[in-house]
Amino acid sequence: MAIPTKLKLTSDAAVDVATDTLVVPLFEGELRKRKAPSKLGPILEALGTSVIQTARKEGFDGRAGQKLVTCSRDKLRAERIVFVGLGENRDKALPAFQDGVGEASRLARSSGDSTLAVVIRSPKGVDAPRTAALAAEAALLGSYRFDRYVSDKPEDPKRPPLKTVKLIVEGIDSASRREIRVAAAVAEATSMARDLVNEPPGSMTPEDLARFARTLAKSHGLKCTIKGRSEIERLRMGLFLGVSLGADTEPKLIKLEYQPRAKTNRKGIALVGKGITFDSGGYDLKPPPGMDAMKMDMAGAATAIATMRAVAEIKPPFPVTCLVGACENLVSGRAYKPGDVLKSRKGTTVEINNTDAEGRLVLADVLTYAAEQGFEAIIDIATLTGACMIALGPLTFGAFSKDDDLVSAVLRAANEAGEDAWRLPINPALSEQLKSDIADIKNTGERMGGAITAALFLSGFVEDIPWVHLDIAGPAMYARDKGPIGKGASGVGVRTLARFIRQKAK
Ligand code: BES
Ligand code: MN
Ligand code: ZN
Repeated sequence: MAIPTKLKLTSDAAVDVATDTLVVPLFEGELRKRKAPSKLGPILEALGTSVIQTARKEGFDGRAGQKLVTCSRDKLRAERIVFVGLGENRDKALPAFQDGVGEASRLARSSGDSTLAVVIRSPKGVDAPRTAALAAEAALLGSYRFDRYVSDKPEDPKRPPLKTVKLIVEGIDSASRREIRVAAAVAEATSMARDLVNEPPGSMTPEDLARFARTLAKSHGLKCTIKGRSEIERLRMGLFLGVSLGADTEPKLIKLEYQPRAKTNRKGIALVGKGITFDSGGYDLKPPPGMDAMKMDMAGAATAIATMRAVAEIKPPFPVTCLVGACENLVSGRAYKPGDVLKSRKGTTVEINNTDAEGRLVLADVLTYAAEQGFEAIIDIATLTGACMIALGPLTFGAFSKDDDLVSAVLRAANEAGEDAWRLPINPALSEQLKSDIADIKNTGERMGGAITAALFLSGFVEDIPWVHLDIAGPAMYARDKGPIGKGASGVGVRTLARFIRQKAK
C-alpha cells in the first residue's frame, strides 16, 4: 500500500537536518578530490577522515549504481548516511540518482525509519526543481509495499515508516513547488496502479475495478460512467461480450473523464486500457504453473485509470478520457469456444482460433467506441502478448504506431520519466497471417511476430485517429527490485503517460 508520506522542502544545511536516513549523491571521484563541492564540505568534515577510509575499503568511488551506507555516529543530525554514486556528471547521472534515491527509500522503509532526507544535487543541464521532483517521486515510489494481507507486519503501527521525506534544496519558487506536487501525484498514481494489480483476482473483479474508478472520480473531480452487460450488448460489442461469456461476473465498460475548467471544443486524448481481471486462457487454457500471474492482466486498465489521478493534478487545458473494457476470461459451459465467430461493434467478423488471445478482442471493440468519439489521439495500454516479453525482455514495454510524431512523443515521455520503452514495427506484410477462411479475420497469427500481429489486429479498429499501442506484458510485474520499483506490480506506464500529458499541456 502507498503510505501517506509528507513531503517537506528545506534550504537548511544538510548537517542540520534531523532525519533517520540522509541520502547524499556523489559524482565519480568527488570523495577523492581534496576539495569537495561546497554543499558536501560540511558533511564530509563532520564525518571526518574515517568515511574516506571506509569508502576506499569498500571500493566506493561514486560510480553510477554504487551505494555506501554508513552510520553517522552523532556527528550529524542524521542517523544513517547513504552515499549514492551518480557516475560522471553527464546525462546518465539523473537515472542513477533516481535509482539511488529509490533504493535508499526502500532500505529506509524496511528499517522502519520515519524520515528520509535527500540532498538535491543536479547533474549538468538539469535544473534543481526537476531533480527535486524526480527525487520526490523516487522516494515515494521506493516506500511502496503491498502488505494488506500480511498479518504480522514488522512495523510499529504508532510509528508508521517513512512519514516524512525532506528534500534539501535551495532556490525553490512556486513553479518548482508545483513541479514537486505533480511528481507526488504521479508517484501516488503509480502506487494506486500497483495496488490494483497486486490485489488478488477474487477481490479485483470487473465490478471491483469499476467501484475503484467511481471512488477515484468522486475524490478527484472526474466524471465516471459505468456500463454493464445490457448496455454493452446494446453497443453491439460482440468481441468484448464473447470474451466475457465464460464468467459469472458482469463485464464493465468503465469511462473516466477529465474536463478542463475553461470550456473547450477540443476532444483531447483517450487512454484505453485492457482490463482482463483474470486470464485463464479460456478453452485454450494456460498451463497451471504461472497461471496465478494472470491477475496482472488488468495492468493496462490499472495504469489508464490511475493516470487519471495524475491528470487531475496536472490539469491540462484539454480533456482526457480513460476507457476500460473489464471482464474475466474463464472456462464454463457458457464460455466462447475455439472456432466461434464473433461480430465486432465495427461490423468485422472474427473467427476465434485461440481463446487466449482475448485482450485484442476486448480492446478492438473499445477502440472502435473511442474512435467514434473523434479523439485527437488514442493511446491503448495492455498486457497483450508474451511475444512482446520475448522480444524486449522483462523491463521494456513495446510501442507500436503508424504515427511517427505521436510515438516519438510517447517514447520521449518514457525516457524523461525513467521508464524503458522501445518502438516495434506494425509490419503490414504479416496481416496475411490473420486471414480467415470463414470470417473477415481470425484473432491470432503465427507464433513468430506475435506482438506485431496483435498490433495489426488492433490497427483495424482505430480508423484514422492517431494511435499508439503500448504492450506492457513484460514490465507490468517485476520479478525483482529495480531502482525505485520493488518486486511485484510496477505500475508501469503511469509515469510515461503522465509525462506525455504534461508535455502536451505545456
Ligand atoms: N495476457 C496474455 C499475455 C501475457 C503473457 C501477459 C505473459 C503478461 C505476461 C494474453 O492474453 C495472451 O494470452 N496472449 C497470448 C497470445 C497468443 C494466444 C497468440 C500469448 O502471448 O501467448
Ligand atoms: Mn490471454
Ligand atoms: Zn490476456
